[in-house]
Amino acid sequence: MTRGELKALIRTIPDFPKAGIQFRDITTLLAHGEGLAASIDMLADMAAPLGATKVAGIEARGFIFGTALALRLGVGFVPLRKAGKLPVETIAEDYALEYGVATLELDPTIINDGEHVLVVDDLLATGGTAVAAANLLRRAGAVVNHALFVVDLPELSGSQALAEAQVEARALVE
Ligand code: PRP
Ligand code: ADE
Repeated sequence: MTRGELKALIRTIPDFPKAGIQFRDITTLLAHGEGLAASIDMLADMAAPLGATKVAGIEARGFIFGTALALRLGVGFVPLRKAGKLPVETIAEDYALEYGVATLELDPTIINDGEHVLVVDDLLATGGTAVAAANLLRRAGAVVNHALFVVDLPELSGSQALAEAQVEARALVE
């Protein structure tokens, strides 16, 4: 499957969750067996040379791709959770995303000091979420050099926001 064919499996819903937002819905890609497998194959090809010892996925859509990728790489998976979900003491980062504000939390004891953690999410828009994820992981002792996405919306400059935070963003489609 080509990247163009992969992109065609993602639908755009206007004015969700707010007026003016063009929402890129990956549900249609997830439901397509060949498309889902191809997206994980492509993410695994991108991730293989990066040498991460854990994959961190961002709740909720990042859990789907992040877990599949961690299995392919043979490394552990770290859930970066929305506020109030983890049953232990956490560290937290508040952030703004394209259509709101939110908080991510992490159990810092899950991260080994100095280990390389790869951030994975379905979509990069403003980069607010992914920068918060990198900050959180670094506070726990991780080295975070790369973040992988299925979709990048370049007009929202998320890859620049990540570059300013010393994280290189790569995506399968724009
Ligand atoms: C979406 C998406 C990314 C984030 C990107 O998540 O899955 O995590 O927004 O936006 P940004 O680049 O502007 O920060 P959302 O918070 O909607 O949560 P969900 O995965 O639970 O739908
Ligand atoms: N998260 C932030 N912006 C988004 C968009 N336009 N579509 C889907 N998820 C998003």
